[in-house]
Amino acid sequence: MLVYFITDEPTKLPAVRAMLEPQYNVVPRLLGNDSAQASARGVLMVDVDLRQMVRVEQVRLTLQQMSSSSEKLFVVHNQVPSMVAQAYALGATVVISRAKEAAYKLAQIEDAEKAAQRDAEAPSSGGDSPSAAFASMFSALRNGRPINILDAEHATAQIVDRVKRDGLVTWLDEVRRYHEGTFQHCLLVTGVAAGFGLEIGFNSADVARLGIAATLHDIGKARIPLSILDKPGHLDPAEDAIMRRHPEIGYDLLKDVAGMTPEILDGVRHHHEYLDGSGYPDGLTAPQISDLVRLLTISDIFAALIEARPYRAPTPRHTAYQILCDMGGKLEGSLVKAFAHVALKS
Ligand SMILES: [Fe+2]
Ligand SMILES: [Fe+2]
Repeated sequence: MLVYFITDEPTKLPAVRAMLEPQYNVVPRLLGNDSAQASARGVLMVDVDLRQMVRVEQVRLTLQQMSSSSEKLFVVHNQVPSMVAQAYALGATVVISRAKEAAYKLAQIEDAEKAAQRDAEAPSSGGDSPSAAFASMFSALRNGRPINILDAEHATAQIVDRVKRDGLVTWLDEVRRYHEGTFQHCLLVTGVAAGFGLEIGFNSADVARLGIAATLHDIGKARIPLSILDKPGHLDPAEDAIMRRHPEIGYDLLKDVAGMTPEILDGVRHHHEYLDGSGYPDGLTAPQISDLVRLLTISDIFAALIEARPYRAPTPRHTAYQILCDMGGKLEGSLVKAFAHVALKS
């Protein structure tokens, strides 16, 4: 994989080369150099002092010339918030705080690209592990290809098997160790939902139905800009409004997919609805909210709380469960009670 290293400081190049080569082919681009055209697709790694406006303009120009690269990794030393915001404004898809973190991020990008490649060659291969199957689905969407229901079923079945075999806690630990962001979230929600379904005695067909709805519930986030999805802090009102569109976007992405069922579409569109009518996007109330959606919403909130986010540590499981209990009339009390066995099991 080609890595275009864009910098205003040529003395940084040897260290970056030493770290990334020979695994990656590092091509230096010194800011202000006119011939910045990228001849092939690759990842852009930007390590520039963004406190200087003249540098910011140069980066903007360089990125315009190299628009064929979709992944833009910015190094913002110590993640200074105003500089992180500047990086996202310039189109960063990932922000890291030290060049040393680049190898890890590049490996993740490469994994996703490989999964996309496999997906293009064999549309329903789905990969050979739950997370590979997931990566393949997300990258297909990001690259403008439609989702395949068989991939979702395949990914879900593997997670259900894992939860049955090793228990939910092992699955949660594994996911949190190796993944992050939306991808981690979907793996967690599916595991939690599967654990929940198994706990309350669902048969395998029902566990699979709930699991697939969980797998796909946030698929609309594949169309939300990464600058919002991965923002290392709280969203401002405008960003939040964009983020809140993900259930409808997901619904639109899936509604014409062959093999899609009304209950999956219901789960995707309505997992942020609350029984008291205070949710979104349709402001449904209890009689309009199905059992599957009620289970999914509880699993979703719990999984979101126990995730690590760039700006906060994961909430311990017992605290996360207490937060569910404190949500009162938004969630179904009897289900929240049953969920204690899932949430607090060690
Ligand atoms: Fe969501
Ligand atoms: Fe979610």
